[in-house]
Amino acid sequence: MSEHKIIIAIDGYSSCGKSTIAKDLAGRLGYSYIDSGAMYRAVTLYFVRNNVDVNNATQVAEAIKDIHLSFVFNVQRKAADIYLNGENVEPYIREMAVAERVSEVAALRDVRTFAVAQQKRMGTEKGIVMDGRDIGTTVFPDAELKIFMTADPDVRAIRRYKELAVKNPDITIEEVKQNLEQRDHIDATRKESPLRQATDAILLDNSNLTPEQQLSMAEEWVRQRTGAIADK
Ligand code: CDP
Repeated sequence: MSEHKIIIAIDGYSSCGKSTIAKDLAGRLGYSYIDSGAMYRAVTLYFVRNNVDVNNATQVAEAIKDIHLSFVFNVQRKAADIYLNGENVEPYIREMAVAERVSEVAALRDVRTFAVAQQKRMGTEKGIVMDGRDIGTTVFPDAELKIFMTADPDVRAIRRYKELAVKNPDITIEEVKQNLEQRDHIDATRKESPLRQATDAILLDNSNLTPEQQLSMAEEWVRQRTGAIADK
């Protein structure tokens, strides 16, 4: 393994496999993987639980002062669980009640300032793969490798539907697809660091790629930058 550690930023649309590739890459490289979306989801969960009104700036500012987020590695998931004020909220943040509100919450300037500051701190030692919407543009504009992911909207909806249907048998594909479209729209049109491809990011459309195929492409890009990843 090379000692030359880099920062890998993975951005893109909702549910197009960013976390899969990020987790796989981090595992292969011995890097840490941080799901920045989990932070926005945890903040949203706090807002839902405490009836914080996103249109009330004072309430939002007060709420943020009360929120502490941390990550603890979960060996079974091979990824870090997010903790909200000491509680592991990983089981709750993927629910539709959060998915329906998260983009509105993530568009708030105070929320972004709070989350981005913590994300930047996590990258100071490099050796990190972070996925999100603004990682290559705002959080780590100097990341050595930036990947921007996209996939066919129907493929994305089916993938996410399969994940959610395990716990929510009543959910429909149409409902899931609408949520993805709505979030993409809010994420791409918001004022504060909107979702967009950094000029130096590699575009990866994984509609027809298996997780193994996308991983080997990403490994090649890492190799070009570091010479890392020993052949297995
Ligand atoms: O996994 P999925 O594609 O559904 O989304 P996520 O990564 O869990 O992110 C949930 C939401 O958080 C997104 O729809 C964005 O509104 C917001 N987000 C953001 O604004 N900036 C990030 N760096 C990551 C997520």
